[in-house]
Amino acid sequence: MAEKVKMLIPEEEVNARIEELGKKISEEYAGKQVHLICVLKGGVFFMCELAKRITVPVTMDFMSVSSYGDGTQSSGIVKIAKDLDESLEGKDVIVVEDIVDSGRTLYYLLDILRKRGPKSMKLCTLLDKPDRRVRDVHVDYVGFNIPDEFVVGFGLDYAQKYRNLPYIGIVEM
Ligand code: PRP
Ligand code: MN
Ligand code: MG
Repeated sequence: MAEKVKMLIPEEEVNARIEELGKKISEEYAGKQVHLICVLKGGVFFMCELAKRITVPVTMDFMSVSSYGDGTQSSGIVKIAKDLDESLEGKDVIVVEDIVDSGRTLYYLLDILRKRGPKSMKLCTLLDKPDRRVRDVHVDYVGFNIPDEFVVGFGLDYAQKYRNLPYIGIVEM
């Protein structure tokens, strides 16, 4: 392991913020059922933690879209490796992501999902890097706005590693 990881957001802060987001979503979806869509692989840790803090009924589905491969730069080519199992027809959908960076992944994905007839669709991301945006993506729920650094942990990888770190760190290369 050549690279070093420096702490950016400690575990307690990440969890406290997810708690707040869960509360906010529970209030805004009172009386409804929320259908969470996890964008694999990065979204998986955040979605699990978020789902546990939502108090209205929750259903979940998973989709795998990849644009980075093992590099640190988005290729701009978005691949659907695994599609959803269930229809979105009439559902109140929240797409859950670890990070919106260039916005290419979500721009593409939201466009596809919107055509599947959800009753509503929102986007919730743990991290947002607005400085890097090349595609206009509206984010409804944001955990943290972060600077333009290569971050790992809580689902985010560098060459597939570090997803399991319980905090957000910066990779120093
Ligand atoms: C990462 C991240 C987001 C996307 C954000 O996924 O998890 O899905 O890139 O980048 P963008 O806004 O520039 O498109 P990645 O393609 O690395 O796949 P992974 O989730 O399996 O790591
Ligand atoms: Mn991803
Ligand atoms: Mg990745």
